[in-house]
Amino acid sequence: MQARFGTLAAVACIVACGGGDEDGRQVITFPASAVGAEAELLQEQLERFMLERPDVRIVRRETPDAADQRHQLYVQWLNARASDPDILQLDVIWTPEFAAAGWILPLDAFAPPVSEYFPATVAANRWDGALYALPWFVDVGMLYWRTDLFERPPASLEELSRAAARSRSDGTRYGMVWQGARYEGLVTVFLEHLGAFGGQIMDADGRVVVDSNAAVRALRFMADEIYETGNVPRAALTWQEEQTRFVFQNGQAAFMRNWPYAYPLLRDSAASRVAGRFAVAPMPAAPEGEPTATLGGSQLAINANTENPEAAYAVIEYLTRPEQMLERARVVGQYPTRPALYGRPELARGLSVPPDRARRIIERAVPRPVTPVYTQLSQLLQIRLHRALTGQQEPRAALEAAAAEMRALLEKVGLAPGESAGARR
Ligand code: GLC
Repeated sequence: MQARFGTLAAVACIVACGGGDEDGRQVITFPASAVGAEAELLQEQLERFMLERPDVRIVRRETPDAADQRHQLYVQWLNARASDPDILQLDVIWTPEFAAAGWILPLDAFAPPVSEYFPATVAANRWDGALYALPWFVDVGMLYWRTDLFERPPASLEELSRAAARSRSDGTRYGMVWQGARYEGLVTVFLEHLGAFGGQIMDADGRVVVDSNAAVRALRFMADEIYETGNVPRAALTWQEEQTRFVFQNGQAAFMRNWPYAYPLLRDSAASRVAGRFAVAPMPAAPEGEPTATLGGSQLAINANTENPEAAYAVIEYLTRPEQMLERARVVGQYPTRPALYGRPELARGLSVPPDRARRIIERAVPRPVTPVYTQLSQLLQIRLHRALTGQQEPRAALEAAAAEMRALLEKVGLAPGESAGARR
């Protein structure tokens, strides 16, 4: 390992293996998301890195914003064993899949400071005992609410529903908006409702329990918000993060469920009609569950076929330094993955909630199942959730079908609980 990725090998690569430009610099390609104001900030940070490392040139690759589409593109590149892109921005749920497929390099040889990160973010990036990606920023789902319409955030889901209905009769177009398109975002929204009713997707032993009574109540609540109360517009069944943000930003919604990135954009009075008129709170729960935030976020990994692993790691090491994370929090509102930074006064200026509270929310955030077949499981669930929410199937029937399909998949790939492969981690 050490020999394969050693500095000498990397230097030899500049000359012999390609992956370099006409000036002899190592070229590192990097597809990264550009939601909100992320692209500009990243460009600035990469330019600063290049001043520090004039022997490296970083070239950005465009990728779609939607998690599932980005995943599809990555799979095409990696299946083709392409060496480009060198660095991959991974969603928190992809690392086990990419690691198990042999598409990304284990990072332990670079001795990353793993103890400096939130344990849940590190756990999501381990597979088969090795670390495959470094946590870059952490996402938690939150409730954005209008301070000009309400005195305080709702303390329960029922209160949320009532307040949303009231705001509509007072003239606000939409009571509540969330990401309801059939894609990964829908699973994250569902997970928050699921936790709010005391349910889970899989239990601690890896058993699929998404057809529980709690899950049925959660999905029924979401469907009722569309068809019974009318708080959530049907249009939301085609919306991802940005569409919900635009609606909330234009003052058309009383509540919105979204990630932290929306906060600085909504606060910007040049573009936002709700600047100074909104705040952020945890998503509330039903009496039988707990306020739940889905754990999301981005990780940085290295393509197993890269010709420049050392330089790729240097870029990752730079972007995950405390200074860059603090700047990312200040400029684009994204939460650092290093708990120590939550004691820094600079952080308070960028975050949507006070840092000590943000830290507690992150520490209690609920991860999605950590498994190499997560994408397939999620797709099975997405289809059924969307069917129930579009009124094509009853919530119970939809969840029973999803659970049966998910169990069959785990069985097929030998990851059903109790089978030896399932116990690998
Ligand atoms: C955000 C989260 C990610 C999640 C995605 C869903 O990008 O960071 O974890 O899967 O949204 O849309």
